[in-house]
Amino acid sequence: MGITTMQHRIPFVNEMMEVTRNMWELGWDERNGGNISYLLKKNEVKEYIDIKDVKRTIPLEFPVRELVDKYFIVTGTGKYFKNVVVNPEKNLGVIRITEDGNAIEVLWGYEDGSRPTSELAAHFMSHIERLKKDPEHRVIMHAHATNVLAMTFVHDLDEKNFTKTLWQMCTECLVVFPDGIGIIPWIVPGTNEIGQRTANKMKDCRLVIWPQHGIFGAGSTIDETFGLIETVEKAAQIYMLINSHQGGIKQIITEQQLLDLAKVFGVNPVDGILNAK
Ligand code: 13P
Ligand code: ZN
Repeated sequence: MGITTMQHRIPFVNEMMEVTRNMWELGWDERNGGNISYLLKKNEVKEYIDIKDVKRTIPLEFPVRELVDKYFIVTGTGKYFKNVVVNPEKNLGVIRITEDGNAIEVLWGYEDGSRPTSELAAHFMSHIERLKKDPEHRVIMHAHATNVLAMTFVHDLDEKNFTKTLWQMCTECLVVFPDGIGIIPWIVPGTNEIGQRTANKMKDCRLVIWPQHGIFGAGSTIDETFGLIETVEKAAQIYMLINSHQGGIKQIITEQQLLDLAKVFGVNPVDGILNAK
């Protein structure tokens, strides 16, 4: 059996094994780069895990009253995506937010005494914002997607300009992320500040770029969230390819073509980007 076909008895652990492996193989998550948190339904957790058996309680530096009694599976801090599929119990954990919203309880995993990602603030705060917008929301995913990162060195960081460029790189980008991309300034990772700034952008869109660092995506399933980041990364790859091409750019997707596309696919491009009527 190949490593990518390894199966775990818990379906949501399986999903995490599969997606972390794919992200690593795509080169988006070197070493311990990247993290994922996946909101689980109490009933699906109960089916596989004894939710009365709290292994450890870890205090939070920021209270999350909006997430009281919610369950998540979260990648561990310092853990390599490459290794999740080999030892999920060590590299992942299932947690619940305590009754007062001031701590998390470990119910499964983190078996070597580790804890959730250092970006938990960005994850939890983003979950709170996305749940306000979309009751089906469940996943926050962070990756060091190579071409997205490269693009933040060579493209201006105005989020409208950046969104428009990405939309123009592949015909179907606009359909996949009509709400566009949020961009925050460079901020030290793992801080409450980067968490708050990210979540603030998540009020309006499901994708937030951290310049010279990576990308955050939000969605209702692991597949959908992965697909969002994959689409942006593909567009960024096209951008990097065509901008280093000696022959230069000979033709582009026009604004009118993007508007025609939006009309046929029934999506509303976020205001202020496409000017053509
Ligand atoms: P963690 O190992 O704590 O998840 O951090 C990785 C990372 O990408 C920080 O931004
Ligand atoms: Zn990171």
